[in-house]
Amino acid sequence: MQYVIDLQGITWIRDTTTLLHNVSWQVKPKEHWAMLGLNGSGKTTLLNMITGYLWPTSGEVSVLGHRFGEIDLRELRRSIGWVSQSLQEKLHVNDYAQSIVASGKYASIGLYEQPSEADWSRAHQLMQTLGCKHLWNREFKTCSQGEKQKVLIARALMANPRILILDEPCNGLDLLSREKLLDSINELAQQEDAPTLIYVTHHTEEILPVFSHTLLLRNGEVFQSGETEQLLDEETLSQFFDAPVAVEKHQKRVYVRAVAGAKHS
Ligand SMILES: Nc1ncnc2c1ncn2[C@@H]1O[C@H](COP(=O)(O)OP(=O)(O)O)[C@@H](O)[C@H]1O
Ligand SMILES: [Mg+2]
Repeated sequence: MQYVIDLQGITWIRDTTTLLHNVSWQVKPKEHWAMLGLNGSGKTTLLNMITGYLWPTSGEVSVLGHRFGEIDLRELRRSIGWVSQSLQEKLHVNDYAQSIVASGKYASIGLYEQPSEADWSRAHQLMQTLGCKHLWNREFKTCSQGEKQKVLIARALMANPRILILDEPCNGLDLLSREKLLDSINELAQQEDAPTLIYVTHHTEEILPVFSHTLLLRNGEVFQSGETEQLLDEETLSQFFDAPVAVEKHQKRVYVRAVAGAKHS
């Protein structure tokens, strides 16, 4: 079996602090994963291992069947799309949404090469999938936060990645914008040729049913991982958050509420 992502015993020590400890994680083809963890639990650090921007102190990283150390990372990174807040800050805000999406083919900031007719048509189709084709002629800076995220996801898809990482894409969105973005992500995840999605969040309710598996990360360690439905129950989540929580399910999504009398740390 060739894993899409295969982490074996990843530990990352910075100065004297262990930021990741013995993290093992296997993602199989056709699975979409959520990664759940509180702020500072090491989620983004772990993503940096998968994209080869950080090198573990010990352990082994293989992505798409290639062991790190034996493959050209720049090559591999072309197969991985990554949407995060910091990307948004780097883009040229005066560009039109269409150019931002089309530039994803070259993973460039700004459009230096003239896209072909087929590229424009693909950009348009991706914006349609993400439910944002009406933004085609809009300057990026005039898009709302949620709209920007959709444009950036479409942009990442332009390069036909095999893995798409969404690092807290709903942060800062109001309730309705968040639901709209999640709808788009749901639409994308269900496509036959969709890349493997890794959805990173600290809110359980953002984990859509299409994310069949979840990794619970706590203090740089895997608390548990497995099938989302099995994992996100009251007992596991109370242990995970180290505080009693009540869980309610709506349309196969899990809403967590701290129970009165929960201890504060
Ligand atoms: N380059 C770095 N050097 C030292 N500490 C870091 C570095 N990057 C992240 N950290 C620390 O590692 C911990 C996990 O950070 P991060 O992976 O960003 O968490 P998350 O994405 O889950 O919020 C934090 O305590 C953060 O301060
Ligand atoms: Mg983070």
